[in-house]
This record gives sequence, structure tokens and C-alpha cells, in this order.
Amino acid sequence: SNKTVTTVAHTNIALIKYWGKQDSELIIPYTSSLSLTLDQFYTQTSVQFNANLSEDRITIDDHVVTGTGSKRVHDFLELVRQESGLNLSAEVNSTNHVPTAAGLASSASAFAALAAAASKAAGMNLSLTDLSRLARRGSGSACRSIFGGFVEWQKGFDDASSFAVPIETRHLNDIRIVALTVEKHQKPVSSRKGMAFSVKTSPYYPTWIKVVDADLANIKAAIKDNDFTRFGTISELNAMRMHALTLSADPDFLYFTGDTLVAMNEVKRLRHSGIECYYTIDAGPNIKIICQQANVKVITYTFSTLFGPTKVTVAKPGPGVKYL
Ligand code: DP6
Repeated sequence: SNKTVTTVAHTNIALIKYWGKQDSELIIPYTSSLSLTLDQFYTQTSVQFNANLSEDRITIDDHVVTGTGSKRVHDFLELVRQESGLNLSAEVNSTNHVPTAAGLASSASAFAALAAAASKAAGMNLSLTDLSRLARRGSGSACRSIFGGFVEWQKGFDDASSFAVPIETRHLNDIRIVALTVEKHQKPVSSRKGMAFSVKTSPYYPTWIKVVDADLANIKAAIKDNDFTRFGTISELNAMRMHALTLSADPDFLYFTGDTLVAMNEVKRLRHSGIECYYTIDAGPNIKIICQQANVKVITYTFSTLFGPTKVTVAKPGPGVKYL
């Protein structure tokens, strides 16, 4: 089967964070998580299995990558060969579409697009649930990017039971994520390593597991009730509780920079002056502001003035994975 399959997957931002694995081989998390797939940042990937290749050929953003740079992709292709029974090397071409300087290249969109393209190119015809399970093996957060809009990754307890499901709702559809790039540099501690340190050394980790259960139930109720205030409040709290697991690790570490704190304070100042907005932060210094369409203008203006207009990108809810 030598056909080339091309897919597009968008990144997602977690409102209830995934931070820790109970099985790092299969990527089974300790907690469920909840995200919003965005319309702005996506990866387009083509895969072809080819009898004329002696080894996988991986091109990312027009550069051929080899060695450690391609190991995760190569391991993932191994898994697809194992599951499909197809024993050919693959040609992979992947392009990240991220607005200039957004600094949001993401393993979520990358492995969602790769899972869809590679499995189809290998002749598998997976359901969306099985595609989510497969994407999970590349990067945990990728299992959520198979679906559009609000998505819950149900932690499960083994490979068969750990996958994402879409949350069917027409509520909160005027939600916007204003992504701020205060810093473009590579994060000092990858999320993979950071979450492993937290699980191993933070005395608060067992509490985190309990807190996520409550936060998740509350945010789902907020979505159901179309309650933006409750939604934003829980999102911000949950993100800060995740970062408390880095401060309480041994040795401690922190993803924030001075600019992150400046941006956090600005969100709080706006909120106290009646412009409703909240923030969430992943394993890096950049903050994402959670707001509604009506306030996008004033928020964009405020942060463009602070950090420069090229540092601000507005995202809406986006679609699930697509075959081109
Ligand atoms: C902070 O999915 O990148 O963004 O499964 O090790 O590849 P691996 O980790 P990854 O971790 C994402 C962490 C997070 C929170 C989230 O997206 O839920």
C-alpha cells in the first residue's frame, strides 16, 4: 500500500491539566483532563510507507531530522508497524502552522496528525476512539486533539480504556483564547520530565489527584450551565495548582519568567476593573488568556501595548483531525 495520506490536526489547550503518568510506557495518566481544541495552531502531516526506503525519512518544517530529534516519531512509526503488521519504512513530511512568533509548536497537534496519517497509510481503519488511543502513545495531550471543541481525556486504567471523548455542547461557544508569547525560547524542563519529577518528589501529588477530580466535575457542570465565570475561575485555579507541583518538587523548578508574572497581574487587574478574563499556563512561560468574544478587543489592545502586537494571537474553538 503505497498511497500517501495527509492529515491536519489542531493543538488544544488544557483547562484541567494532565500532569503525571501512572504508566509512562503506555502513557496512562493519574487523572483525567479537559481541553479546548483551538482553530489557530495546527500541524499538517503526510505519511507514505514505501518499499524503496531502507529506513524512515522524517522531514519537519522542511528540515530532515535524524537521531534524537526524530526518535519519538520513529518510535511511534514502530508502534504503527507493530499494530498494522505492515513492515515498511515510512516517508513523513510534517509542517507546523503557528502564527509568527507564537512559540506554540505542540506535540499535541503533531502526534494527532501523525497518528491519523500513519495508521491510515498503513491500511488501518481506526475509529476515532482507537485513533485517540493511538495518538496518546505519541504524546498524552495528543489524544484530545483528535476531537474538536471541548474534550475530556478519560484517564482509564489500561491501554484500551484511556482515550478522549468530545463534550457535546453548544454552550460557551463565544469563548476565546488570547495566546501571549512573552518568550520564544525552548522550555528548560520538558513537560514529560517535569511531570515525572512532580509525581516522584512533590509531597502534594496525592492531593493533586483528588483536586483534579473535583475541578473536573465542577468545570463540566460550568459548561453544562453555560457559566463562564465559574468556568474561568476553575481553569485558572487548576493551572496554578499544577504549577504548585513544580514549586514543591525536589529539586524545585518553575516555568514562569518575570514577564509571565507581569502578564498574570495584568489579567487580574483587568478582571478587577470589570473586564472578565482568566489565565492558564502550560509547561512554559507563555500565558493563554481565557475570555469571551465581547472582550477580545480590549484585551488584545492591552497586551499589544505591553508586549507588542506580534506577541498576541486570538484563537477560537477549532475542529478535530481531518484527512485532506
Ligand atoms: C502542561 O502531552 O506534552 O500541557 O504525554 O509526556 O508527551 P507527554 O506530555 P504532554 O504534556 C502536556 C502537559 C500540559 C497539560 C495538558 O496539556 O494537559
